Amino acid sequence: MNLKQIAAEHAASFVEDGMKVGLGTGSTAYYAICRIGERVREGLNIQAVATSEASDKLAREWGIPIIPFDQIGRLDLTIDGADEVDPEFNLIKGGGGALLREKIVAANSDRLIIVADGSKAVQKLGKFPLPVEVVPFASEWTFQTLEKMGCQPRWRMDRQERYLTDNGNLIADCHLGTIEHAAELNVQLNMLPGVVDNGLFVDMANLVIIAKEDGTIDEL
Ligand code: 5RP
Repeated sequence: MNLKQIAAEHAASFVEDGMKVGLGTGSTAYYAICRIGERVREGLNIQAVATSEASDKLAREWGIPIIPFDQIGRLDLTIDGADEVDPEFNLIKGGGGALLREKIVAANSDRLIIVADGSKAVQKLGKFPLPVEVVPFASEWTFQTLEKMGCQPRWRMDRQERYLTDNGNLIADCHLGTIEHAAELNVQLNMLPGVVDNGLFVDMANLVIIAKEDGTIDEL
């Protein structure tokens, strides 16, 4: 079993009968969805909302009942991955492009469990480029504004085309270097009119499950 799978399957054991569950996106969340799917096949009764089209498809393949976000109400628990986690549980997310739905689902959850291998635990955020979701309208203006702010943005590409999120938006990956003040930057970025959201998750995670090289788990 790889480390992502170990962390994700441990998190899946937090899901209980009758819960409403948010399903994350990415290669770690994948294993959580598969394990939850196995448990649904064994009789676990839950309702879920997915944070991306890919996770929606995977969950449906396992027979996990998927409910539209607007109909599900408050969620008990969301399990999701992260690109970086700092000691205060601030996160960078969005490497898989699903940051907007992930943040909406996380904000509507009583508990956000982050699953990761040890490589994601950092002292300071910022080595991983911060994804910023940008509306296509006036995208060049927004990009230039990010440049002027010193964010060093680069459009995320998918082959020769600009990458499009499930929401039809673009992603500017910002090469900021060390992020000293995540909360302030989060607000500053989201105040730009062309920015839909960014990958900083501040004060959102409740539990971080890290699988270490020796196969043991840290629950932080
Ligand atoms: C997707 C995400 C992912 O959770 C993040 O990129 C981590 O992915 P992985 O588990 O594949 O390393 O935020 O938008």
